[in-house]
Amino acid sequence: LKHQSKSELLAGKKVLISAGPTQEKIDPVRFFTNRSTGKMGFSLAEAAVDMGAEVTLVTGPVSLELSNDRVKRINITSADEMYDVMHEQFKTHDIVIKSAAVADYRPKVTYAEKMKKNDGPLYLEMERTKDILKSLGLQKENQFLVGFAAETSNPLEYGMKKLENKNLDAVVINNVAVEGAGFGGDTNIATYVHKSHKQKEIQLATKYEVAQKVLTYIASDMKDES
Ligand code: CTP
Ligand code: CA
Repeated sequence: LKHQSKSELLAGKKVLISAGPTQEKIDPVRFFTNRSTGKMGFSLAEAAVDMGAEVTLVTGPVSLELSNDRVKRINITSADEMYDVMHEQFKTHDIVIKSAAVADYRPKVTYAEKMKKNDGPLYLEMERTKDILKSLGLQKENQFLVGFAAETSNPLEYGMKKLENKNLDAVVINNVAVEGAGFGGDTNIATYVHKSHKQKEIQLATKYEVAQKVLTYIASDMKDES
């Protein structure tokens, strides 16, 4: 690898990345969502392009713009829409990274008219969304499939469970309770775990630098497999 510059590590590879939160509609003016801003996913997309890859970025509603036009961006709103687009795109990509914070639940009923308030409390029934990553794990052929795990306790234990349960090739575990990591900020701290259980600690760094490291580990693990 010594003679190969970093910017060529992903040459010829097609990378599919999901980013941001999803929004699950309650009525025409309200929705459920989470604190994801999309920064980690956008950084992955930009770092992958800088390393020579062809990139498709599937993103929930975020206020970010891409700093280069070599990424193909597809905007979605709900978990269901992300499910459809990720499955449409899956087969034509070599590396698939799910950094999106997909809503686990959505309102069972979406009201066509704005809900009116009453005097008493409101009870909203929520139902599960489909687990996109788990479904991709079941359909996997030659893709190198990477998930993210956002945890506030026992990150390694819970993250490894996701690696196994979703049939991933690697998982990037974030302890989102730690200062400098997780939602919103410009930095992250993570542990990259390959399915062989080989672990790499990624120290506090900008999300772009963390993305470069994650992509370098992926490229190296793919090389070992081939
Ligand atoms: N994920 C997904 N579809 C869902 C929920 C999660 O594809 N409906 C993906 C995320 O994009 C991420 C990984 O699964 O790559 C782990 O997400 P996370 O929220 O950490 O784990 P969950 O499996 O949803 O479990 P829990 O939230 O209960 O910890
Ligand atoms: Ca979840």
